[in-house]
Amino acid sequence: MPLRQKRRGERNVGELGVTAGELVKLAESYGTPLFVTSEKRLLDNYSRLRDAFGKHYDDVVVRYAIKANSNPAIIKTLANRGAWMDASSPAEVEFALAAGSDKKRIMFSPNYVPRAELEQALDMGLVINFDSIGQFSALAKVGRPQCVSFRLNHGFGKGEFPGTTLSGPDSKFGIPDSRIVEAYRLAKEEGVKRFGMHMMCGSNVLEPEYFAAITSRILDTAGRLKSELDIVPEFIDIGGGFGVPYRPGEVPLDIEKAAQLVSREFMEKSARYGLGKPQLVIEPGRYLVADTTVLLGTVTEVKSYEKRFVGIDAGMNVLIRPALYGAYHQVVAVTKPDAPLTIKADVVGEICENTDAIARGIMLPEVTAGEDVLAVMNAGAYGYSMSSSYNGRLRPAEVMVTTNGKPVLIRRRETFRDLMSTVVLEDIGTRAKRE
Ligand code: LLP
Repeated sequence: MPLRQKRRGERNVGELGVTAGELVKLAESYGTPLFVTSEKRLLDNYSRLRDAFGKHYDDVVVRYAIKANSNPAIIKTLANRGAWMDASSPAEVEFALAAGSDKKRIMFSPNYVPRAELEQALDMGLVINFDSIGQFSALAKVGRPQCVSFRLNHGFGKGEFPGTTLSGPDSKFGIPDSRIVEAYRLAKEEGVKRFGMHMMCGSNVLEPEYFAAITSRILDTAGRLKSELDIVPEFIDIGGGFGVPYRPGEVPLDIEKAAQLVSREFMEKSARYGLGKPQLVIEPGRYLVADTTVLLGTVTEVKSYEKRFVGIDAGMNVLIRPALYGAYHQVVAVTKPDAPLTIKADVVGEICENTDAIARGIMLPEVTAGEDVLAVMNAGAYGYSMSSSYNGRLRPAEVMVTTNGKPVLIRRRETFRDLMSTVVLEDIGTRAKRE
């Protein structure tokens, strides 16, 4: 059953293909806080990105960075369309497998993990993307991966925030250019025959030229591997980082242009260095999922003393980006989509931390506790996947509105029983009594 008939003139909220009225109805049926994801937008994002690159180069793989949104229903939707997967933990590998991904299409890309996790990936036959020479050496003591990739940190990164700049001298990731040949030499000496290359320099970048610049750098390194070690990588993964506009009026990333510039650089330098035709891998998280999803929260209180605070039942425990990075998320009152924006307020959550805000100093219509529902836009990337149960708050439910307009529950709301499921109490009481 579709949600309901759209009334004439009703507008969709963001890129969702769902109206404000439909979101209110979902909030009523499933409760809040609630993530609502549009399957259509997810599929559109995937096709747009894949086609943009596929137009210029015929061996392109889109490897979805599961960390952005690890709901297996999202992974399954993308895997069904042909997406490969980038997993940073054993659980993310399991999510991908549960969603029907083929092992051959999953790359394990860990950093600072115990050797046991590397061994597990080795046993499963996954491609491993090593973050350091030490990681590789440790694993080489017990076995040899068939295909080895190293993460390059070529000293240049760009992110929306210092916390999302993932390459450069201060970044904990990867192997610097000065040591990268040594890494591949070691792998070659250990008998590895198949190689890949990887980098991930920054997140939420909106300038197409940046992607060409980093592609140029990794290709130069590939050239050195060829000339110094006679290694030709099967794939070159330029990472993710493709940005989306969060602020109204922000210019979106010109993905067509990014794809064109990257492919041109990729082909030119592959030819120059005699690399043949390596697979071009892109590793997006945010671009695929961010604008597919809104987070719905009900207004719990409006407090107006010296300053006005609008409290909702979805705070930093559900969406930590504003508290952690100062990230901006647009907020829309879906119960009053056409009302004038007459109040200025901080939208805050229920958590006992003063950093617990979803938005600061934004304009909203007059809202009432217990009645109005706010939608936090662009909540699909690094929302649920970074959520916590801090203050004993239960994680929200997630609903996907399918392409035929039907809402489907893809994750139920957490319960108190879930929070208690890992707790062991029995031994405490008995011992205390005995002592
Ligand atoms: N590949 C690797 C190895 C990564 O570490 C990441 C993100 C990606 C791909 C995907 O990056 P994306 O396309 O989503 O930019 N929590 C931050 C973003 C941190 C990104 C961490 N790595 C945020 O909420 O903005």
